[in-house]
Amino acid sequence: MNESLNEEIAKLKKERNAVVLAHNYTRAEVQDAADYTGDSLELARRATQVDADVIVFCGVYFMAETAAILNPEKTVLIPDPSAGCPMADMITGEQLRELKAKHPGAKAVCYVNSTAEVKAECDMCVTSGNAEKVMKTFAPDQEILFVPDQHLGGHISGMLGRTYTLWPGYCPTHQAITPAGIAAARAAHPGAPVLVHPECARPVRETADHALSTGGMCKFARESDAKEIIVGTEVGILHRLRKENPGKLFYPVNERMVCPNMKKTTLENLAAALREMKTRVTVPEDISVRARRAIEAMLAIG
Ligand code: 13P
Ligand code: SF4
Repeated sequence: MNESLNEEIAKLKKERNAVVLAHNYTRAEVQDAADYTGDSLELARRATQVDADVIVFCGVYFMAETAAILNPEKTVLIPDPSAGCPMADMITGEQLRELKAKHPGAKAVCYVNSTAEVKAECDMCVTSGNAEKVMKTFAPDQEILFVPDQHLGGHISGMLGRTYTLWPGYCPTHQAITPAGIAAARAAHPGAPVLVHPECARPVRETADHALSTGGMCKFARESDAKEIIVGTEVGILHRLRKENPGKLFYPVNERMVCPNMKKTTLENLAAALREMKTRVTVPEDISVRARRAIEAMLAIG
């Protein structure tokens, strides 16, 4: 079954001059069918570099939207347009406009996990892979409104010794990690370093050894001497970690770390997307132009 779908996907990719990008959390078979797998930053960058007419984005909607904003001349498809990110939907453009009105002079910064409408209201975008580097470029006394993830915003402001106004958004999947869960994983695998995503709450980050983007976790796994690593993020990343590091063992903090939206892309709907050229992701021109400024400002820094 997978074999014939893989053959069809490979054939359609050629016919359509298409490239398939997949996030590190997608299903194993989708990652294997993709041309590139990566974190949000790597995929946003890759979207600007591909020489293809069509980009099929296997991930959640804001990621495909970011690719569409960066490539207005390309056709960007998402296999299941209902694959949203609940965190991205925790703030609307209207709510951000109201917040900005209360803080004249503040710079608005959005985590890439946000809608195009919210990005259009922002001065800067960040991902978990570049947030520290990007946020360092603001003067220490610059007032910052950070949306929507309170945890990534708190992580970076804490590291830089600054205070941001944080929107109370969060990732429901990363809420499932607790300090007690990390303690149990450490007890089961003594000596293994613990990696968590910066979307985890502060007590979790403080209990872990490193808070890293999914791309940062892949790099850590490659470069570390550790033979066993405990991973505190969505379990889809385990496929890539194990594939790239056959001599090492990776343990999830818990098996409940599943983002249901990331699992919506299947080989079936990926093949259908290429076959039927659906579902196209478009962003209204006025929003796209303003959102692109915040994303390009980020890409220019790192
Ligand atoms: P990364 O950019 O680290 O891959 O994170 C994306 C995401 O949605 C994490 O939940
Ligand atoms: Fe959004 Fe969390 Fe899923 Fe990432 S893991 S896409 S932040 S819901």
